[in-house]
Amino acid sequence: MALIEKDLEAIEAPDREFLAPKFLPRKPIPDLGLERIEAERFYSKEFMEQEWEHIWTKTWQLALHVSELPEPGSFFVYEFGRESFLFTKDKNSVVRGFYNVCQHRGNILCQSPSGAADSFTCPFHGWEWNIDGTLKDVADPDFFRQFDGGIPVDELGLSEVKTDTWGGFIWLNMDDDAMPLKEYLGEAGRHLESYEMEKRTYMDQQSFEWKGNWKHAVDAFNESYHFASLHPDMVEFGEGHDVPIELHGIHSRMMNYNATVSEVVEDRETMTPLREHMMGRRWDDDAPVAAGPAKDIHLEAIKVKRAMEDDTYLPYKKMNDEQLVHQYHYTFFPNATFTQTPEGGAVFRYRPHATDPNICYYDFIIMPQLPPGTPSPDVERLVHPHGSPQDYADAFKGNFDPILANVLRQDGSNMETIQRGIKSKGFKGMLLCDQEIRLRHFHQTIDKFISGELNARKP
Ligand code: FES
Ligand SMILES: [Fe+2]
Repeated sequence: MALIEKDLEAIEAPDREFLAPKFLPRKPIPDLGLERIEAERFYSKEFMEQEWEHIWTKTWQLALHVSELPEPGSFFVYEFGRESFLFTKDKNSVVRGFYNVCQHRGNILCQSPSGAADSFTCPFHGWEWNIDGTLKDVADPDFFRQFDGGIPVDELGLSEVKTDTWGGFIWLNMDDDAMPLKEYLGEAGRHLESYEMEKRTYMDQQSFEWKGNWKHAVDAFNESYHFASLHPDMVEFGEGHDVPIELHGIHSRMMNYNATVSEVVEDRETMTPLREHMMGRRWDDDAPVAAGPAKDIHLEAIKVKRAMEDDTYLPYKKMNDEQLVHQYHYTFFPNATFTQTPEGGAVFRYRPHATDPNICYYDFIIMPQLPPGTPSPDVERLVHPHGSPQDYADAFKGNFDPILANVLRQDGSNMETIQRGIKSKGFKGMLLCDQEIRLRHFHQTIDKFISGELNARKP
């Protein structure tokens, strides 16, 4: 067993039940086999079509943050693959999601990304809909013999998509027979409720176009085996080597250790400038951490945070000891990741391109838990084309530590090369180790949705 785990298990935990159970001691991981994962799924148009038919149109998708519909009359357009969705909040604050398409000849109806409106007018022939999706006006209805008996207003309302809210986000499901969102998120969703995501601030969201299939992006963040090689900085202030992993239905989680030095690093004691920058301040008063080996800072953090659990707006009280400091990383099938500490975290979303399996969009959302009453910033959501920005820290305009922004750049740097490499005649398929079991589980779940063995519908 890793030394870090022995130290952690030795801490005396409070005798109470927590929403999220600890990872330690580790539970055995099911044996999902050893087969290679074939490469075609990453570039085949046929496979992309099957994903659309059996996965994207049949599962819950995280779409927008509730703060993006700030007041009655707000609207927000969410682009996903071949679809465009229009979300609105009516004058009674009822939120609805629609396919963003004109019922006359199918033009995209709302062509502004967000704003406030009473109604939406199609720019082509001027048909108009109210913000609640009901038909408001048809231009020259006398031209339509179909309407001789009266305009069929029910038939001509905007097509609605199923929506629900969880964790401060509005989710959508294109399948009218889908199981409820909470049921879909299951046990993993209940764990995450300890973070009180609905109290978080929607601080920033930046999207990156990557020249790789969306599943490469999911895979890139679902294992930590790559830390030592790809992220030499990360192992200086955390442990991402041989981490605990659990599978929860179609979802999964892992724990990355914060405020420590990885066991792959020789000197785990010295407080270097990088370690000082990333973990040298206390959590309560920003004073320097107690002198001691750098690798043990997380143990001090747990004690400090537990001692202040009654006097803070942060949800320490709801959290087990591991959660107080370490990174709890959840991925909900198929494309949403929540990676969290009590003070905040990030949400990742991976979106396929509309037609090209070789391109995806990686959305990175920053969500700190700020003291109550802190005003929310205006978020400027941008999509950064492939290859830009060179410096990811610039994209976040000061909202993200440059060291971590650089880690993200490193993650993105493999997308184009892996997309090219897996098509090689010389590649035999992905060979996955147990630290990559979440990838194997993810690809097997995809296969089971496509074959019909699994679905996410109401019983
Ligand atoms: S296509 Fe929208 S009004 Fe004709
Ligand atoms: Fe990474």
